[in-house]
Amino acid sequence: MPEAILSIENVHKSYSSQAVLRGVNLELAAGERVALVGPSGEGKSTLLNCAGGIDRPDEGRIHLAGERLDQLSEAGLCRIRQEVVSTIFQFFHLLPTLTARENVEFPLRLIGDTEVDIRAKTETLFEEVELDHRIDAFPHEMSGGEMQRVAIARALSIRPRLILADEPTGNLDSTTGQAILTLIEEVSERHQIAMLLVTHSEKATEICHRVLKMQDGVLLESSGISQQTLAKS
Ligand SMILES: Nc1ncnc2c1ncn2[C@@H]1O[C@H](COP(=O)(O)OP(=O)(O)OP(=O)(O)O)[C@@H](O)[C@H]1O
Ligand SMILES: [Mg+2]
Repeated sequence: MPEAILSIENVHKSYSSQAVLRGVNLELAAGERVALVGPSGEGKSTLLNCAGGIDRPDEGRIHLAGERLDQLSEAGLCRIRQEVVSTIFQFFHLLPTLTARENVEFPLRLIGDTEVDIRAKTETLFEEVELDHRIDAFPHEMSGGEMQRVAIARALSIRPRLILADEPTGNLDSTTGQAILTLIEEVSERHQIAMLLVTHSEKATEICHRVLKMQDGVLLESSGISQQTLAKS
């Protein structure tokens, strides 16, 4: 078993008196894609927030790329979010006043890359997501699929070890959603990025090696296409 990029051990998280995560365990290796399914309100996004250093567990351990997230200071978590983990959202979360190019450049500016590097990296990323022709468009001028390609380019810009995706095709029609899934699978393979993908879509589970179900605050192995997909890769 290759060394885990993300390791979640016995994580608990409550809001007020409501226990949401009640002993979650999960390991993800480099390049491994895991789908997270389960009913609304079960805590899928809460788990992504803990794995991405946006929120903290009440109990349990989270290792990401060799660091103990649950013990890091706010500054440490901020560095993790800037350098190690990226998130892709259902509604893209692009900055509306910036062009596609500027949205992708943004995280690179935060980590202090040089202008020359930022320009070169951004142009390569737009080629990778096949959107070079829309690089100077604003979000409101783009389709949902185009906006998600920009969001994927932005997510890739920092060369993350882990990408968290919360319903990345939830706002797209099925053809566009399938193209985005294919792109997510390709970039994860090419760069060996681990992915935790929350989805209600059967199609999205098909690009994943394993499918886990969040139920009653824990993760359960879910049957399905996982073994078949694993055999393919
Ligand atoms: N910041 C918060 N403060 C208080 N309660 C919260 C907070 N975030 C989430 N919750 C509650 O925790 C529970 C789990 O929410 P979460 O968003 O993780 O569910 P989910 O599985 O992602 O649902 P969905 O499929 O609808 O996105 C819900 O009952 C929600 O109301
Ligand atoms: Mg959610």
